Amino acid sequence: MEENLNKIKERLEFQISKIDDINNLEKFKSEILGKKGKITQILKNLKNYDENERPKIGKAVNDVKKIIEIQIEKKKEILKTKELNKNLQNIEKIDFSLPTKDELGSLHPVTIVQREIEEIFKTMGFTIEDGNEVETEYNNFEAVNVHKYHPARDMQDTYWLENGQLLKTQTSAAQNKIMKKYGAPLKAIFPGRCFRNESLDASHENTFFQLEGMIIDENISVANLIYFMKTTLSEIFKKDLNIRLRPGFFPFVEPGFELDVSCMYCNGKGCKVCKQGGWIELCPCGLIHPKVLEFGGINPEKYSGVAFGLGLSRLAMMKYGINDLRLLNSGDLRVLKQIGVK
Ligand code: DAH
Repeated sequence: MEENLNKIKERLEFQISKIDDINNLEKFKSEILGKKGKITQILKNLKNYDENERPKIGKAVNDVKKIIEIQIEKKKEILKTKELNKNLQNIEKIDFSLPTKDELGSLHPVTIVQREIEEIFKTMGFTIEDGNEVETEYNNFEAVNVHKYHPARDMQDTYWLENGQLLKTQTSAAQNKIMKKYGAPLKAIFPGRCFRNESLDASHENTFFQLEGMIIDENISVANLIYFMKTTLSEIFKKDLNIRLRPGFFPFVEPGFELDVSCMYCNGKGCKVCKQGGWIELCPCGLIHPKVLEFGGINPEKYSGVAFGLGLSRLAMMKYGINDLRLLNSGDLRVLKQIGVK
């Protein structure tokens, strides 16, 4: 039997040495070592041998099995390296100095608008912060005064991870961390990608961009908010805009407002964009709720603050005349070409 086994081993080794393709090697492996493979069959047939001889033969077969397994693994490595080298050779054939067939890439409209706005805020001494996309429930909700059973949660359904974290529904989710990081006084903006589990239509997407801001200092009032928003938004739209505030409810500001700007397309006279009303709803904002300051480790007796949320995706749509929010995430190059961003 042992002599026989040696022959089998040599034959298998020879066969392995001839294989030059990973798929064939895998096939060979299962033919020899798999459940129905030759070696497995020999092991199964052990019962036909004399009881005294079985352990010896069994060991010999297992030894061969192990050797063959090792040989197969070694061969696999060799074939993998060979394949990699072949691929690398192909890559080298690409001539990077040739002109591109298509146009060059470009920045996304949202990125362009975001960078423009960041420049404006930078000149006013604002810190630019980056929030996480995956957030804790605490940061996204509790820390901005939306407790577990608050009805405001219904409007911001999102995608939950198995570990209890979530995809952030609003840039406000970064407020708490930023307050803890800088303390008061502070001036920061934080743009970011947000997610909501929405039924999609031209103005609702599961992924969109916001840009949020906070100013915290002593004696910040609604008067500061009005003046600041008017000058900043006029700067962003490069036009002297009027603003008006309407009451608006957001759990993290008190009082909270919906801020409208006079339509920058018709100067408030009434047009298609402002639906003849002369005003465009642009930026929810308000005075930061004392509880939110407190959660962020800031003393609400001493400090007060302004928070505002700009819809970045919406601003990009306004700037480039895009009428369907979904186009911004479509990855369709024709959109960029049509709106003149190349
Ligand atoms: N986080 C709000 C939302 O996504 C927007 C918002 C409203 C932000 C008021 C603010 C604010 O900072 O003061 O609906």
